[in-house]
Amino acid sequence: MELLTTRAELRAWRNKVHGSVGFVPTMGALHEGHLALARQSLKDNPWTVVSIFVNPRQFGPNEDYERYPRTLESDVRLLESLGVSVVFAPPVEEMYSPEDEVVLSLTRLSRLWCGGYRLGHFDGVALVLTKLFHLVAPTTAYFGEKDFQQVRLVEKLVEELFFPIRIVRVPTVREPDGLAMSSRNAYLSPRGRAQAVALYKTLEYIQTLVPQYMLTEDLLREGRQYLETRFPEVKLEYLAIVDEYSLERIEHLRQSAAPRILIAAYVEGVRLIDNMPLRVPEEEEAV
Ligand code: PAF
Repeated sequence: MELLTTRAELRAWRNKVHGSVGFVPTMGALHEGHLALARQSLKDNPWTVVSIFVNPRQFGPNEDYERYPRTLESDVRLLESLGVSVVFAPPVEEMYSPEDEVVLSLTRLSRLWCGGYRLGHFDGVALVLTKLFHLVAPTTAYFGEKDFQQVRLVEKLVEELFFPIRIVRVPTVREPDGLAMSSRNAYLSPRGRAQAVALYKTLEYIQTLVPQYMLTEDLLREGRQYLETRFPEVKLEYLAIVDEYSLERIEHLRQSAAPRILIAAYVEGVRLIDNMPLRVPEEEEAV
């Protein structure tokens, strides 16, 4: 495995290899969710590149850029043991010039849901991925469904900018109690960790109410009530039922062939997100 830190090294490597190249972009602090992406890429491609770059442009001024966990050595060891071809771990200066003048925005998808609360976050994601896609020139790139809005944004970015890259969604990897794996789970105390399962439990609870309730307003009300009574320490940011293609809110489950519940909440000041497709029994499905 090669550990590369400059664009020039990466370009030189890329110019030498032929055949399909799988790409897994990460910010490091790797967990089983990231490893699932890498394993899928290793299965599908003779070459796999994993990037490790904590992207300053996707953090707001009061967010956790400085304290975001950085565990490069152990990440590299893990990826080497899996059989990854290249780890690309550039310093910030390799990815952004001092002028740092480009802004890339998806006018609708950047601003919905998480984008409404984390201003500029998805613009930063779109920009860094555009740069990385140019440098790595992968044939396929792998993204976890845990960050569902990010997946949709990347799919749209690739479509609009004509990147010849296939985007593969990989299902969320969960802890045994259902908590979605995330690098930010490491910030939680044991007490907070016990509360963090609230997101998954709320999604599951809402699912049990279908088809008894088909209006999303009812489902969301019941879901919010469940969260408030069972997990009073968890501060809900948003809970929404959307069409998973447009990410627009829906009012009736029959309105969408693929409804999905999205949730974002704070536990001990740590922002966590999760989502789940909402299964609608066949006789109730959209016609
Ligand atoms: O999901 C992440 O870890 C980041 O948003 C990504 C895709 C690596 C871009 O910095």
